[in-house]
Amino acid sequence: MAIDNETNPVLGFDLGTTFSALARWVDRKGPQIIQNRAGQDITQSVVYYNPENDEILVGHIAYTKGLMIPENMIVGVKRLMDDGNQKVMLGGKEFTPITLSSLILEKIYEDAKMKYPTGTFSSRGSVVTVPCYFKAHQMDNTRKAAEMTDINCIGIIQEPIAASLSYALQICEDHFDKEFSQKILVFDLGGGTFDLTLFQLKHTSDTIFFEVLASSGDDRLGGMDFDRCLADVILEKSGVSLDGIEPKLFNKAQKNLLEQSTLAKIALSASNDYYVAVPFILPDKHIEVSISREEFEKSIKDYFDKISKIIDSLWASSKLNPSDIDRVIRVGGSSHIPCIKNLLDDILGAEKTWSNINPSTSIAEGAAMYAAYLDNTDFFDKKIVIRTRTCHALGLKTSGNRFKELIPANRQAPCTAKQVFTTAKDNVKKLDIGVYQGSGKKISKKTHSLIGKIPINNLAPKRAGEVDIEVMFSIDMAQRLSITVEVEGQKKSAVVNYT
Ligand SMILES: Nc1ncnc2c1ncn2[C@@H]1O[C@H](COP(=O)(O)OP(=O)(O)OP(=O)(O)O)[C@@H](O)[C@H]1O
Ligand SMILES: [Mg+2]
Repeated sequence: MAIDNETNPVLGFDLGTTFSALARWVDRKGPQIIQNRAGQDITQSVVYYNPENDEILVGHIAYTKGLMIPENMIVGVKRLMDDGNQKVMLGGKEFTPITLSSLILEKIYEDAKMKYPTGTFSSRGSVVTVPCYFKAHQMDNTRKAAEMTDINCIGIIQEPIAASLSYALQICEDHFDKEFSQKILVFDLGGGTFDLTLFQLKHTSDTIFFEVLASSGDDRLGGMDFDRCLADVILEKSGVSLDGIEPKLFNKAQKNLLEQSTLAKIALSASNDYYVAVPFILPDKHIEVSISREEFEKSIKDYFDKISKIIDSLWASSKLNPSDIDRVIRVGGSSHIPCIKNLLDDILGAEKTWSNINPSTSIAEGAAMYAAYLDNTDFFDKKIVIRTRTCHALGLKTSGNRFKELIPANRQAPCTAKQVFTTAKDNVKKLDIGVYQGSGKKISKKTHSLIGKIPINNLAPKRAGEVDIEVMFSIDMAQRLSITVEVEGQKKSAVVNYT
């Protein structure tokens, strides 16, 4: 059965921190980007609310308007998905990160619909991407955002897996009947997140098999941070200070400065110098300075070192060496930055980088491919099997707000862990077992997230330490965590879907 249907296609949405993209699957041609109504492959993930006419704008127009009235605009909603229901005020109206994300998805979907007669285009099934480093609740919030729209979400896929699906499709087509195995490193440095994923790709006559060997990253590291570093250099060099400026003027100046910093940063990936001008940054001040690539790269040194450390930590956790890697897939707009490229080339060798891929669109393309597969699993004449690993440790909250790890980060699924706990006080009548995901010995909002609670009631009075609480965690191939708690003959189970 052909999957492709001109007006009823399967779609892949890359919901990025700064830019989003949409691709569809076209039979015999593979994934194809659907451009937005301005004819661009990618759309700015920016929302603007105009209280005067109750209008919501998304994309470049939202960004342009927001430069004039910054309090009506939001950039980087994805970074707020940690708490999907928090209040975000735009132009005096309340939004949540979930609704804002749904507006971005809806907008790129609307742009696709516009290319066809009204009412004829609809998604047969969509896949939305999330960073590998997202925790369970962040993925869940993304799913909720997708479900608020009519894109017909049939799945969520992690961004590096989507990028490597695009790659696998290309090389497996060329070697359809050949059996081979490769170790692939996906380096994704986007606008807001850094994801590093090491895969084993095994290709046989009937299966494309992905096994995540290790992954690492930082969900607070990307182009948005580099923009801020460069903005500081521009201010310092121009001698203009924004200290003590009243908030309205400050916000406007800051947004204008950041816009010019982004342009300068992008230009500095191609040239050694860039002339930055920000006319009327303040009513009586202009900025005019020349910035060199060296100055920019120096300004992001701390982030560069962080990236370098994260790469090092991957070798330690995977017990592999750079020489074991067969192929590097560089994705994300920020991977264009020359010092970042050089870092990868120095560590892994420039010849390993796969160049037949567009870093800005490959994730949406891979998501469209996965949507085609989910829609009809016989379509590729091959099974696609994805075996992942835990990105964050999973464990319980114990007394003193401590985190007791049961399954560490980077453990391959499926896996199980069992441990017996006891009570810290006499005569405990009920327990509320909190299951957390995160890292660090003490549970805090910053480092851990609650992914489930299991209540146990009606315990017979006993002394502290006399109650056996047997806890079993088990992760299946689909990354579902089953938790079983057994206390004094009472057995309770829960299943947490954390991808
Ligand atoms: N040539 C370039 N040189 C440097 N930076 C670039 C270049 N092109 C794009 N960028 C930056 O890349 C970022 C956007 O990349 P991308 O679209 O991959 O991110 P995203 O998908 O929005 O973010 P994330 O994947 O982190 O959610 C922006 O910060 C942009 O300024
Ligand atoms: Mg991205």
